[in-house]
Amino acid sequence: MAQVIVAGTQWGDEGKGKIIDLLAEFADVIVRFQGGSNAGHTLVVGGEKFIFHLIPSGILRKAKRCVISSGVVVDPDVLIEEIDSLKERGYLQDDSQLLLSEEAHVIFPYHKMIDMGRERIRSGGKIGTTGRGIGPAYEDKAARCGIRVIDLLQGDVFHRKLEENLANKNYYLTHVLQEEGFELEPLFQEYMGYKEKLQRYVTNTSLFLSQQIKEGNNILFEGAQGTLLDVDHGTFPFVTSSSTVAGNACAGSGIGPTQIDFVLGVTKAYTTRVGSGPFPTELSDEIGEMLRERGGEYGATTGRPRRCGWFDAVVVRHAVRLNGLSGVAITKLDTLTGLNTIKVCTAYQVGEDLINEFPASSEMAVRCEPIYEELQGWKEEISGAREISQLPRAAQRYLERIEELIQTPIHIISVGAQRHETIIRHNPLLT
Ligand code: IMP
Repeated sequence: MAQVIVAGTQWGDEGKGKIIDLLAEFADVIVRFQGGSNAGHTLVVGGEKFIFHLIPSGILRKAKRCVISSGVVVDPDVLIEEIDSLKERGYLQDDSQLLLSEEAHVIFPYHKMIDMGRERIRSGGKIGTTGRGIGPAYEDKAARCGIRVIDLLQGDVFHRKLEENLANKNYYLTHVLQEEGFELEPLFQEYMGYKEKLQRYVTNTSLFLSQQIKEGNNILFEGAQGTLLDVDHGTFPFVTSSSTVAGNACAGSGIGPTQIDFVLGVTKAYTTRVGSGPFPTELSDEIGEMLRERGGEYGATTGRPRRCGWFDAVVVRHAVRLNGLSGVAITKLDTLTGLNTIKVCTAYQVGEDLINEFPASSEMAVRCEPIYEELQGWKEEISGAREISQLPRAAQRYLERIEELIQTPIHIISVGAQRHETIIRHNPLLT
């Protein structure tokens, strides 16, 4: 039995979807514990492309149970669309495969409108939000006025809470953001329709998970976004609104930290970021362009081109510490094939100072000049490699150097988009 957390070590989009899909074969339950439909996992299975925003990608494997736990903020419209699309493609034929926490908070159209309206009036320093209402929904949770899944199931309670919320939100929307407000009854009816479709999945997911652990089953906790987007430890304020680090897998799913056996960090072989904020190793030259094109670096949720740059060991070391990583999976190594030389950032220079830790201040982070080490590239196609020894020597050396710099073992290496295009040195679910 093993309980494993998978966490992103950079700014999200590290390729967690593929790693989770791969490990899901060895798990009984896969849990999504934070974020919402701002996330987007793209995976390619049997030549077919799937994009998930809310449902754990483990749903593609029959007999796996997938949980959307209390730490997630749920847009019912997106969730229903995902359920319908999966059913149409022959998946999720058994409804007991999907479980939705009764404690999860619900996203409403006013959350999205506030997200976008606020971004529009922000003077400079736009966050680059995906506009999915994630921040405003977490705000309501912290302000204790949010509406939860359990409220939807009780029509009268839901009606009262929605009325109270609308009084407040409509004032803010119309008077502060100069947007339109919402009418109570149509919104109430729309969400009662969602309730009809979703209630069969709603349960006490914390209780379900503790029973699964007692029964000796394997659980995989899938993080969304990445460590540098964490609301406490990321590049604040250019972050998302939830805690994205491994510790939140416990709080966000209602299990205790003593239950966790392994934390796997997912790290892209280079770095990308979508949205605004500091990114010390960003490349605005033809190499950055080549990484974007070869790596297909366009946001799964918004389609925005991702900013691309060299591997940053300062960032990943930060993530190793914050997540307590037991090991890492390196993804998209194949995207680097063909480069003559590859750079790796080992530290930053800020004025006269050399710094080895990611600064707390985003104002300082934008002034960080990366200090690079240059490694030899390789030209050989690597997608067929299934053992480290089958990789070109220069690729092996690149991985060895990353291991040295982040002081953490590399357990998995992804050399292509497909499930089988992977080198697995150690499977954390088979310990
Ligand atoms: P929000 O969470 O949609 O408000 O977005 C806040 C910041 O996090 C923006 O820079 C987004 O681009 C970024 N972000 C949110 N979700 C993801 C993700 O799944 N991958 C990468 N970036 C994300």
